Amino acid sequence: MRDLRLITDKHPWGYMQSSSDEAQLLGMLIKMAGAKKTIEVGVFTGYSLLATALALPEDGKVVAIDTDRECYEVGRPFIEKAGMAHKVDFREGTGLARLDELLVEDEGAASYDFAFVDADKPNYVRYHEQLLKLVRVGGTIIYDNTRIEVCQLAIADGVTICRRLV
Ligand SMILES: C[S@@+](CC[C@H](N)C(=O)[O-])C[C@H]1O[C@@H](n2cnc3c(N)ncnc32)[C@H](O)[C@@H]1O
Repeated sequence: MRDLRLITDKHPWGYMQSSSDEAQLLGMLIKMAGAKKTIEVGVFTGYSLLATALALPEDGKVVAIDTDRECYEVGRPFIEKAGMAHKVDFREGTGLARLDELLVEDEGAASYDFAFVDADKPNYVRYHEQLLKLVRVGGTIIYDNTRIEVCQLAIADGVTICRRLV
């Protein structure tokens, strides 16, 4: 993780990399949930992806989606060095197209335990509709860069209050 972070820091788009505390949080949530099958949209060089793979059990899998294979190739040697390559199913393409593909493969089973979205912010609402079908009841979906303060209330069938921050 450290080696990948340092290499990515030197990349011209290194600012896109998830922070180390966020990666640690992802790993912790995946372990606490006992997740085995996960999805990531927005891989870049793979920092959050490696955190995910490390947190998964030996037979766990993460479907990792990004339009940019070149950036993923920067991180792939570090994923291999960490012995995590067998857990990663990288799929090049847009999140919307690849999630549509997963919906066909999944055949309505909602077989995923966890999803992390960190790409293509204008389409978050559309990703949410797709992921609600892919992630099982009780599963977790996390969105990065949601710059609002949220309070979710278990009133009626759920009330969500958002307060704009920026
Ligand atoms: C903020 S970075 C992801 C950072 C990564 N989670 C990490 O920990 O380093 C966003 C990534 O989304 C990818 N991206 C942009 N538009 C996309 C789209 N429509 N579908 C899938 N990936 C996309 C970019 O190529 C970029 O690698």
